[in-house]
Amino acid sequence: MLWSSALLLLFAMTLPARGAIDRRSIVGQFNPVRNASNLVTPLQVGNGNFAFGTDVTGLQTFIPYAIMSSWGWKNDSLPPGQVPADYKGVNWTTHGRDVTYDMPDPNLPDLSQWMIANPNRMNLGAVGLLWKGANVTEEELDGKRQEIDLWTGVMTSTFSYQGKSIEVKTSVHPTNDSVGISITSDLVADGVLGTFLDFPYNNGLQKFSAPLVGIWNATANHTTSLSISNNLASISHTLDGTSYYTTLTWSGAANASITRDSPTAHRYSVYSQSDSKTFEFSVTYTPQWVSQALGAKEVHKDSAQWWEQYWSTNGFVDIVTESSDPRVWELQRRIILSQFNLMVNEAGKNNPQESGLTNNGWYGKFHMEMFFWHMAHWALWGKWDILNRALPTYAEFLPTSIQRAHIQNGYPNPNGARWPKMTDPSGRSSPGEINTLLIWQQCHPIFFAELDYRAHPTSETLLRWNAIVTSTADFMADYSWWNESTGVYDLGPPLYPVSENTPPNSTMNTAFELVYWHWGFEAARTWLTRQGQTPPDNWGHVADNLAPLPEFNGTYVIYEGIGDMWAVQEYKMDHPELVGLYGWMPPSPKVDLGIMQQTTDTVWAEWNITDCWGWDFPMLAMNAARLGNPSKAVDWLLDDLFTFDDAGMPTGGVKVPAPYWPGAGGLLYAVAFMAAGWDGAPNTSAPGFPQDGSWVVNWERLSPAI
Ligand SMILES: *[C@@H]1O[C@H](CO)[C@@H](O)[C@H](O)[C@H]1NC(C)=O
Ligand SMILES: *[C@@H]1O[C@H](CO)[C@@H](O)[C@H](O)[C@H]1NC(C)=O
Ligand SMILES: *[C@@H]1O[C@H](CO)[C@@H](O)[C@H](O)[C@H]1NC(C)=O
Ligand SMILES: *[C@@H]1O[C@H](CO)[C@@H](O)[C@H](O)[C@H]1NC(C)=O
Ligand SMILES: *[C@@H]1O[C@H](CO)[C@@H](O)[C@H](O)[C@H]1NC(C)=O
Ligand SMILES: *[C@@H]1O[C@H](CO)[C@@H](O)[C@H](O)[C@H]1NC(C)=O
Ligand SMILES: *[C@@H]1O[C@H](CO)[C@@H](O)[C@H](O)[C@H]1NC(C)=O
Ligand SMILES: *[C@@H]1O[C@H](CO)[C@@H](O)[C@H](O)[C@H]1NC(C)=O
Ligand SMILES: *[C@@H]1O[C@H](CO)[C@@H](O)[C@H](O)[C@H]1NC(C)=O
Ligand SMILES: *[C@@H]1O[C@H](CO)[C@@H](O)[C@H](O)[C@H]1NC(C)=O
Ligand SMILES: *[C@@H]1O[C@H](CO)[C@@H](O)[C@H](O)[C@H]1NC(C)=O
Ligand SMILES: *[C@@H]1O[C@H](CO)[C@@H](O)[C@H](O)[C@H]1NC(C)=O
Repeated sequence: MLWSSALLLLFAMTLPARGAIDRRSIVGQFNPVRNASNLVTPLQVGNGNFAFGTDVTGLQTFIPYAIMSSWGWKNDSLPPGQVPADYKGVNWTTHGRDVTYDMPDPNLPDLSQWMIANPNRMNLGAVGLLWKGANVTEEELDGKRQEIDLWTGVMTSTFSYQGKSIEVKTSVHPTNDSVGISITSDLVADGVLGTFLDFPYNNGLQKFSAPLVGIWNATANHTTSLSISNNLASISHTLDGTSYYTTLTWSGAANASITRDSPTAHRYSVYSQSDSKTFEFSVTYTPQWVSQALGAKEVHKDSAQWWEQYWSTNGFVDIVTESSDPRVWELQRRIILSQFNLMVNEAGKNNPQESGLTNNGWYGKFHMEMFFWHMAHWALWGKWDILNRALPTYAEFLPTSIQRAHIQNGYPNPNGARWPKMTDPSGRSSPGEINTLLIWQQCHPIFFAELDYRAHPTSETLLRWNAIVTSTADFMADYSWWNESTGVYDLGPPLYPVSENTPPNSTMNTAFELVYWHWGFEAARTWLTRQGQTPPDNWGHVADNLAPLPEFNGTYVIYEGIGDMWAVQEYKMDHPELVGLYGWMPPSPKVDLGIMQQTTDTVWAEWNITDCWGWDFPMLAMNAARLGNPSKAVDWLLDDLFTFDDAGMPTGGVKVPAPYWPGAGGLLYAVAFMAAGWDGAPNTSAPGFPQDGSWVVNWERLSPAI
């Protein structure tokens, strides 16, 4: 009896939850399909560290969409006679002493700008179709159809030219930065249809390079050179001080010729030398020269295997099968395409840039305060193998963050770490008044550590994050200012809150940062007590005595001293972080739920939602859900102003170009939150979705949010 019930239990545990979701049929309904190039966004294939953006031909034949990577960065030449070490930052008075911040130095404008714009992320090149003896335009192609098979990660583009059909298959290898390309057409066998490779110059003169990256006509400013051996051609590309390599291989039977179009251009022509209708080759981009590369067949095969396991494992949500609300198809589309696009663009070795690997914003740099919105969803969806590619960034940046807090900013604790904001893989902070005065990125490593511990509650997890958690909280305790007259710890001034539109020298005790920092101190203390250690007294003293949240007329307001912010239009714009106090943030002893409800009601009534973008909508949704209003939560996720294009790319809205990936990351985080629940959620299925039967949410292998 005992035996059989134990067996039964074992059996039951290995069975999927009630009616395993038919993931393949759901994913397949949302394959992006286009019949013309889109002038704003590409269709892409990629692996998170490398992405290949295409026009309607599956290549960059007509539109040079970017080929970008985690590793492809370059420096422009320095202002004459200056070196980075000449830049010392700028002093602002902070609680009576000079603190040196990374802000543009008015005495060194060129060097300051160089520090902001360098290194910048490169578009590695273009690969396109080439017709011998003709300059073909997109309009001359008939019957264009392009589809990404999400289940295999292989894109197929078909069209015809003068009655002859052409098919292009494109995929990217899951671990190597190789693109597999198979072109099939009689025109290939006839020697008429070939391909070109081209290389742009890149520099940091543009803050946003969207939708296209790189300068194609500055051919004199950079060099390329070709070497060929057997079935492998290698092109080295040198821009200012940086070189990288492009390796072309083709399968043995299909010999090919590759020639440089002219000694002064960087365009190369490639034609198959065989009489086969199919020309199959791969293009691999690497920072170092390589003597071999994967072939196109292997790239397609490994892509298909990898994407199948990506879709088949970890979190999945099916709202489309059994719900009756007419909006479910659109929300399911956003979910599936976000899962695909974030894997292509936002699964690299660091936190991604705002536009991932699609185009450049802020010179290709990334922002540590956005780490949460780009990547925290991976944790709730169980994709730790992906999140763990980027989380080591915190350990890598720890030494320079300690240097920033203790040496540069002069805070006393030699162990405190102040995390940067706008940065690059070196961890150097880009000069900027807002960059250097933001503090909400400070708690993120503690939040990620806590997510990791909940998923992996082991001593290894505690140990792995210990130095990071400790240094983070040590700086927070140093930074919090004991105000003798009020008997509380103040945050700032100077300070910029999440909404970056208040005067920094008078901004203090910002509501969102007080709540997040309080949570951070408590989580850091728990981190040490879990290991049998005693947390430093000052963490508790600061946490218990942080300033109260600023209020006006029964609502929370952005900062202490702002007064009646509801009467000032400019304060009711940008990120409505007041709703983040309860929703995005878990319940806090600093937050009174009555005042919170009043605050949310006022935000809904008063905020200029037209000025909101990206993750504001998931944040509004989580707040509504936690306040017990799931119907409003789904309304926010489907708000008319929160839009995703036909490729599932979140549009930027009024502030930034498309795609703005934190919108997609926020969406996936909020969907997991609303489906699997959160700390203290009502004990019902999918507590963040309407409970009236119109939404039937089947989900698998998600974790609840904090
Ligand atoms: C191309 O696709 C768009 C929408 O995606 C559709 O409106 C249009 O009719 C299609 N054109 C052709 C020629 O199929
Ligand atoms: C850019 O220059 C900085 C400062 O000299 C250097 O640390 C960094 O490695 C360089 N990066 C690249 C990609 O050349
Ligand atoms: C803030 O104060 C510093 C002096 O500590 C001053 O240099 C700076 O211009 C002030 N900033 C603003 C935006 O007023
Ligand atoms: C800036 O402050 C630092 C630290 O207090 C000090 O060493 C340095 O001399 C100051 N620089 C200027 C230009 O005042
Ligand atoms: C194609 O365009 C290029 C550049 O405009 C021109 O030099 C070339 O002669 C054209 N080729 C044909 C076949 O029209
Ligand atoms: C490159 O093109 C840009 C924009 O069309 C133009 O302003 C610039 O003069 C061109 N440069 C060269 C070297 O031809
Ligand atoms: C190319 O180099 C020339 C000469 O140094 C310079 O004047 C020009 O601005 C450079 N072009 C670009 C696009 O950086
Ligand atoms: C490819 O063709 C070239 C001539 O076009 C020839 O020299 C070379 O040996 C061929 N390579 C192979 C592997 O067939
Ligand atoms: C794939 O990339 C890895 C790491 O860059 C390299 O060691 C390996 O040789 C590559 N595989 C092939 C077949 O080129
Ligand atoms: C102490 O707090 C009060 C009220 O918040 C504030 O006006 C004052 O500037 C603070 N004192 C110092 C020295 O920062
Ligand atoms: C205070 O809030 C109430 C609603 O709760 C509103 O009627 C009143 O106008 C507000 N007063 C001010 C000064 O904003
Ligand atoms: C609301 O925001 C939009 C977008 O930024 C702006 O165009 C509009 O002027 C704002 N409305 C008000 C009343 O400020």
